[in-house]
Amino acid sequence: MRKKELLKILEKMTVKEKIGLLSGKDGWNTKPVKRLGIPSIRMTDGPHGLRNQREGHDLGIGNSIPATCFPTASLLACSWDRELAEKQGRAIGEEALDQNVQIVLGPGNNIKRSPICGRNFEYFSEDPFLSGNIAAGLIEGIQSKGVGTSLKHFAANAQETDRLVINERISERALREIYLASYEIPVKKAKPTTLMCAYNKINGDYCSQSKWLLTDLLRKEWGFRGVVMSDWGAVDNRPQGVYAGLDLEMPSSDGMNDKEILKSYKGEKTVMKTVDDRFDGKLTEKQIDACAERMLNLILTLDGKRSGKKCDYDAHSELAAEIARECMVLLKNDGLLPLSEGMKIAVIGEMAERPRYQGSGSSQVNPHTVVKPLDEIKKYAQVTYAKGYSLDDDTDLSKIGEAVKAAEGKDAVVILAGLPDSYESEGFDRTHLNIPESHLELIRRVSEVNQKVAVVLCNGAPVVMPFLGQVCVVLEAYLSGQSGARAIAEILFGKANPSGKLAESFPCALEDNPSYLNFRGNGETVDFGEGIFVGYRYYEKKNMPVLFPFGHGLSYTTFTYSDPVVSEKKIGENDALTVRVKVKNTGSFDGKEIVQLYVKEASPRFLRPVKELKGFEKIDLKVGEEKTVEFRLDRRAFAYWDETEHRWRVDSGKFEILIGASSADIRVSEEVEVIAENPPKKLTIYSSFRDLRLHPNGAQATEEILKLMEKKESEIASDDEKDALLSLDWCILRNIVTMFGAKLPITKLQKMLDAVNKKS
Ligand code: BGC
Repeated sequence: MRKKELLKILEKMTVKEKIGLLSGKDGWNTKPVKRLGIPSIRMTDGPHGLRNQREGHDLGIGNSIPATCFPTASLLACSWDRELAEKQGRAIGEEALDQNVQIVLGPGNNIKRSPICGRNFEYFSEDPFLSGNIAAGLIEGIQSKGVGTSLKHFAANAQETDRLVINERISERALREIYLASYEIPVKKAKPTTLMCAYNKINGDYCSQSKWLLTDLLRKEWGFRGVVMSDWGAVDNRPQGVYAGLDLEMPSSDGMNDKEILKSYKGEKTVMKTVDDRFDGKLTEKQIDACAERMLNLILTLDGKRSGKKCDYDAHSELAAEIARECMVLLKNDGLLPLSEGMKIAVIGEMAERPRYQGSGSSQVNPHTVVKPLDEIKKYAQVTYAKGYSLDDDTDLSKIGEAVKAAEGKDAVVILAGLPDSYESEGFDRTHLNIPESHLELIRRVSEVNQKVAVVLCNGAPVVMPFLGQVCVVLEAYLSGQSGARAIAEILFGKANPSGKLAESFPCALEDNPSYLNFRGNGETVDFGEGIFVGYRYYEKKNMPVLFPFGHGLSYTTFTYSDPVVSEKKIGENDALTVRVKVKNTGSFDGKEIVQLYVKEASPRFLRPVKELKGFEKIDLKVGEEKTVEFRLDRRAFAYWDETEHRWRVDSGKFEILIGASSADIRVSEEVEVIAENPPKKLTIYSSFRDLRLHPNGAQATEEILKLMEKKESEIASDDEKDALLSLDWCILRNIVTMFGAKLPITKLQKMLDAVNKKS
């Protein structure tokens, strides 16, 4: 909406009415201003389908109006397909219109710091480039229908334990390169209508009242123009939230915080202590107006006029199957798959008749129908079914005998195993990576009597697989939505060629994970001690084996990569680089390949990951077909966050462009030299003599100092490593004065340095 019109409405509003816009009417709606014809808009969870609670079931879970349960984020990300995410988004948007919902509370795109975060099924990846791009696709899809989104939980909501209070200590570099980058991409590319702030604190400040996060970074630096709302109950000090740029408190605080804002505006004492030194506890009308104007814009843009349009839920159920089919990841196949139609098959595991298809918590959708793997597999084979374990009692081993009998003599066995509901959910974190002992024992005993076992895993996040050597096949189905069972059967019987790839590493053991020593913290604080080394960035740096690497996924066909070409061999840091590669389907199935591009700085001066994902494309190839895939890389593909200068920095040097089928399966590479134009670093008395000597304007000062020390240039550095310690070059300038007898006072040295700095 145009600013002029907004300001006109704002002018007519009383301060109280404006403050009223800054918190919900109840659990899911904003407050209307009837006098001025400002309607109320409705929001619901999110993210993989609608949870639109029926009247009278406001903040409970369950009792929501039926909607399509699409694959959860952890599976959707395995498509590595922005357009597919967009497609899912469009369908969710249509259901929102049908149900008169104006904002869908999603997507969630926190980085998967640890595989045991209870809410990982709602998040996409351990990599910000993948996560940010899939989130952007989903947002664009939902918003294309005129429905709003809420990108959540901003930022770094990386654990469920103590999520309402935990203070996350994260380095500036890890924030920028990993945790914030996951938001920066969709904020800039897809322009979500709203963001939802996280519950946690970052470096001492609650996200709900951090001016740095909500205004300086999000709005001023990234150019975000929308509304920031709180996660449900994330508000601590409401006036400070207004000062920081938190526009909407959700759900309603029953007027309590509206009063706080008013008191703060009137200069009266408020209940909560102010914690930001820059905020004196008093709000001006201008500050209230800034939030109210953004709220007005949101409400009047999404006013619900488009709502009421009916949608086709049956078609969406089909679409949910199609999406699941594109995402499931074939982790292992020693030739058993695809199975042949008409085979005699034992289907084992209670999940075959009680599928686990979504996670628990606020994202829980109430689907119209849920397809069962057992019914779907029966369409292709002669099936004998055995429960194998109990989903209600994971210690019950009594059902294994019957399953073993069912497995004997069959052409193949399909075991559905994984994590029961009670193992992972919003609200708590797992403590281990195991599936229930009863599932493990079942797999072990069944594989003793039948060598042709395929395990289908239904889980929201990585598990360890002590059974890997005992079985022929592992298909990672994740939590695949209401129609996911169709995709499972189609992949097992070759009706669909698997094409998903892991959006996260599967470690060999929880202890291997980089966050292991710090995860969860001490109730108040958690250190992100691994810094930028999250997921594959860590395993690769440590040269550590993993169970399955980031980007891994098998197909029934084979792909050959050839002829990588870079548009230039040498570029300036601000030039774009085009990279092309040919990929050919050389097997006997039509199939899709996810082509991954990683960038590696050949000889970085400072610590960097071995390589980082900077491009991906999913392509469809018929048997024998070849396509050229093109990537465009910009400055950011080569940059790292420089904590000393607080900016993205590229260093001159050689970079390898690595292209392959997974992070651990690089097929072809090319090299490019990047010439950076970094201004010389500002010199201080703590800079080394070498910094001064090599500084483009440092010649005169170098000469003067040498003269004062009665030294010659040839005496400065020694090639002999033994002398390096005594070499003047490595001395900081302060010590040249204090220890090595340069006869000049520190103040004079400082003046010399000021002159050098001034010239650059
Ligand atoms: C969750 C959000 C959700 C909200 C509303 C919160 O507890 O963290 O993701 O959107 O509840 O249900």
